[in-house]
Amino acid sequence: MAQTMMRKIVMSGACVVLGITRRSSSRCLVTSSNNVTMKKKDRVLPEEEEITKSVFMSQSTDIYTNLALEDWMYRNMDFTNHHVMMVWRNEPSVVIGRHQNPWLEANISHLTEKDISLARRNSGGGTVYHDRGNLNITFFTPRERYDRKYNLELIKRALFRGFGIKSVINKRDDIVVRDNYKISGTAAKLGRLTAYHHCTLLVNANKADLSKALAKREHGIQTKATESTRSAVANLADIDHKVTVDSLQTAVGYEYLRTPALHLEDGGQGLIMKQRGFQFVNPTDNWFPGLAELKQELQSWDWCFGRTPVFTVSRTFPVPAEILAPSKVYTATQELVINMTVEKGLIDDVTLSIPPGLIESGFHGEASVITHLKGKRFTSEALNALQDAMLTRHLNSDVKKLDEKDQFVAKCFDQVVNTI
Ligand SMILES: *[C@@H]1O[C@H](CO)[C@@H](O)[C@H](O)[C@H]1NC(C)=O
Ligand SMILES: *[C@@H]1O[C@H](CO)[C@@H](O)[C@H](O)[C@H]1NC(C)=O
Ligand SMILES: *[C@@H]1O[C@H](CO)[C@@H](O)[C@H](O)[C@H]1NC(C)=O
Repeated sequence: MAQTMMRKIVMSGACVVLGITRRSSSRCLVTSSNNVTMKKKDRVLPEEEEITKSVFMSQSTDIYTNLALEDWMYRNMDFTNHHVMMVWRNEPSVVIGRHQNPWLEANISHLTEKDISLARRNSGGGTVYHDRGNLNITFFTPRERYDRKYNLELIKRALFRGFGIKSVINKRDDIVVRDNYKISGTAAKLGRLTAYHHCTLLVNANKADLSKALAKREHGIQTKATESTRSAVANLADIDHKVTVDSLQTAVGYEYLRTPALHLEDGGQGLIMKQRGFQFVNPTDNWFPGLAELKQELQSWDWCFGRTPVFTVSRTFPVPAEILAPSKVYTATQELVINMTVEKGLIDDVTLSIPPGLIESGFHGEASVITHLKGKRFTSEALNALQDAMLTRHLNSDVKKLDEKDQFVAKCFDQVVNTI
């Protein structure tokens, strides 16, 4: 029966957005969760029976669109009488937490090469890799009714009812199967009026791609940013091949609808019939005025990279013997040390410790050249600026290309900014 109902909705190809009740007026829409006119203590929350539930299915697979939609709903919708669970999936992307450092969490060169998007979300927590093989779920409720345990327990029940899969919720609020293999990641945003909890379920995500995208590298970064804890992960499809992103979405969706809004009980078919059901959501600016702007912001370099908490990088590179001053003998290893402070994703301070061997062979690391790095993005953009500055300096003499000492130093900077 449940399956039939679901199929009917899918077959009709309907694209409806129902039940979007904005907070009473357009003024509230703008002032959103910072709305001062609506005092929390004045708010009377309804009894459980008065709350209906919907499952929204986002029709977009673009990470920035989906994050924007989530943010839009969080800011503009009223969930007092209407709880919403939204499900979606994304094209390959890496999503970092609000307070994280992308250079530390992901292999940025790899992402660029493979066209994998990097996004920073509004909620805290660690980094997750997404592709079409995982299902993302967001639970929206009024702030006071935020209940992470309820949501996770509901997913656990869906796994068991739908597929007979036994799972456990551990102390870190991860859903684990078998011997502690993680199948979910979880994060939340608690506002004044509204809260959401999102989690991602691994169905058949490409684990090789996942570990490449998140590979730990030599980076020399020191930071107070939140670091992710890496855990062993499992795909649900490996546990039971009947689990697909679609079947899981259906199973979790029905579990959500058959469970009363505040208690983990089984309301069965009767309760499902009372809910608002499954709804396709088309995240466009027509349906959600202002969505495009939110998306643009989430997509910007300033948000994804520029919001990184201040960090320092310190790397040491041995100088190859060929470029040291000939006819001199150095007992200690000749090393070039690069120290950099990066603030808002921009290079702020650079200290270069040049070993005697490099100075005596004619490299001076002129301050004027290094100064060109200041204010540049912590990307190859900085490297280009450095090379240009080195060349410009040479233009005064007759040299038209970088000498091998310059090249060596440039290469070291390359390794720093590309965290190779
Ligand atoms: C990061 O990605 C680059 C480019 O694809 C690759 O050459 C490098 O080996 C990767 N690093 C790690 C640690 O996997
Ligand atoms: C999906 O859930 C994960 C885990 O909580 C979260 O990191 C990610 O940002 C979510 N995806 C979106 C598009 O919100
Ligand atoms: C560079 O950073 C390292 C590690 O933080 C530190 O030990 C060293 O003193 C710094 N060197 C300079 C020249 O700032």
